[in-house]
Amino acid sequence: MSDRYALFGNPVKQSKSPALHAMFARATGQDMSYEAIEAPPGGFAEALAAFRAAGGRGGNVTAPFKLEAFAAADWLSPRAESAGAVNTLKFEDGRILADNVDGLGLRRDVEINLARPLAGRRVLILGAGGAARGALQPFLEAGPAELVLLNRTVAKAEALVERVRALGPIALADRARLGEQAFDIVVNATSASLFGQRPDVADGVFGPETLAYELAYGKGLTPFLAQGRAAGARQLADGVGMLVEQGAEGFAWWRGVRPGTAEALAALRVPLA
Ligand code: ATR
Repeated sequence: MSDRYALFGNPVKQSKSPALHAMFARATGQDMSYEAIEAPPGGFAEALAAFRAAGGRGGNVTAPFKLEAFAAADWLSPRAESAGAVNTLKFEDGRILADNVDGLGLRRDVEINLARPLAGRRVLILGAGGAARGALQPFLEAGPAELVLLNRTVAKAEALVERVRALGPIALADRARLGEQAFDIVVNATSASLFGQRPDVADGVFGPETLAYELAYGKGLTPFLAQGRAAGARQLADGVGMLVEQGAEGFAWWRGVRPGTAEALAALRVPLA
């Protein structure tokens, strides 16, 4: 029987992860399967245990279970510790090993696929939930000139800035002056687009050279991307490249072979408008 992997989440029907890992397995000749498991709210630990008992080898975790996966782990990578959440699991020698490669996937997509190196650049991140938190360490390691954090609930952004202050030049946004100078990269790491809303940010953060990056994927021109475009940003992207890159990282960890990502990117990317 081929080795089994799974995505745990709720909902999972919309996920492109099964198609992505099927592509990676085909391209690298790996004998494995990857399924989507929709666990009921509060039912993650049980679903995970059942999958392990049935011989599962590892998997991915998406909303709303990333914190429960963190709690279930026997070993956490430093990245997962820093993010406070887990998105990739490997079962080995009776233990649950856990990593978080979301931020790394985002960084690779921005720096390599979209050709926007972060070193020396001014970056604005919107949001202070799990998604934003996962991006901070990998982004700061890339050496930006400045990483500014803006969140609807200021206290949450303040707490995040304090947590990672030692890692690099991170600052809390000054809302009154935020629109005065365009950023090189603006990342929407809020969940606003899942509700058809957009985070409140001044048009002035976008300029002609700005990359406006929406973490969600498959939602077309979200209100955030529409604002970026209207405000003059010429480069827009959604999170499909982040999905593909984090998937490749997890796949390499599980299987010891790194798939190329160009084919999957071309297959899964949907025009934004
Ligand atoms: P995730 O894991 O996707 O980051 P989360 O931890 O629930 O989800 O965090 C959601 C983030 O999106 C938060 O930063 C939230 O802002 P608050 O801290 O003020 O709640 C942000 N968010 C959600 N809906 C939003 C909206 N309509 N406008 C602005 N920010 C929003």
